[in-house]
Amino acid sequence: MEQNYGKNPTTVRATDHYKSEYVKSFVDKWDELINWEARAESEGDFFIRELKKRGKKRVLDVATGTGFHSVRLVQEGFDVTSADGSMEMLGKAFDNSRRRGHILRTVHADWRWLNRDVHNKFDAVICLGNSFTHLFSERDRRKALAEFYAALRHDGILILDQRNYDAILDNGFSSKHTYYYCGDNVSAEPEHVDDGLARFCYTFPDKSQYHLNMFPLRASYVTRLMKEVGFQQVSTYGDFQETYRQDDPDFFIHIAEKEYPKEEPEEEKQS
Ligand SMILES: C[S@@+](CC[C@H](N)C(=O)[O-])C[C@H]1O[C@@H](n2cnc3c(N)ncnc32)[C@H](O)[C@@H]1O
Repeated sequence: MEQNYGKNPTTVRATDHYKSEYVKSFVDKWDELINWEARAESEGDFFIRELKKRGKKRVLDVATGTGFHSVRLVQEGFDVTSADGSMEMLGKAFDNSRRRGHILRTVHADWRWLNRDVHNKFDAVICLGNSFTHLFSERDRRKALAEFYAALRHDGILILDQRNYDAILDNGFSSKHTYYYCGDNVSAEPEHVDDGLARFCYTFPDKSQYHLNMFPLRASYVTRLMKEVGFQQVSTYGDFQETYRQDDPDFFIHIAEKEYPKEEPEEEKQS
């Protein structure tokens, strides 16, 4: 099967389209794009450290993809459940983990009705690799965040990352290409950007090209939605750093905490 965006690819702006975007040949190439070894080196132990620091053990990876983070966390001793809405991706993740000596616990589930298929409660939900961008309506974003919230224990955390679309929308595209897509000779570049669509083209060494149509999320919008569904505190990192200039990072990582703070947040005390 091939990717099919029809005659006017920039008009394809639907959440459900992600299932047909990750066709087998693209999924097979995905690991060339992200290069597991280089990616592990570039992100270091950021996620492992943040989870361990907060005493989180039971993790639900809702955007498993080919399994990069699920496998890393299993190797570090976390109790991981790996979910994804794409069977193609889950199959690849299962094979990737088996080749590394692990059996992944996989669940085929769409985020919008996650709790229909995933019944346990987790210490942490991770949604990584710029995945949340696949949701094209605010209704879907709110529903997905509410489902992530519901899958968490009372003091659970959500770790969700995204491309720095603010910089792309405001200043055009430039990438250091250091962190997420670490594959050599693989390019990931936007072909079309407007307020409702970022259409990226991925070109591989054999000249094959694939596309993803994504919604360009502004970082402040994502953190606002997180707070509106009930997360009490959200910390945002830029390319794994706590301090950064807004335009610099390629990616933002949000860590949203569910636990109700014992003290009132500062801004509310003052008003
Ligand atoms: C860009 S890939 C990232 C995969 C992986 N986390 C990584 O960093 O390499 C996005 C993943 O999110 C999944 N996805 C997108 N929308 C989804 C939805 N509504 N429900 C479940 N999974 C979804 C896709 O199937 C895909 O595997």
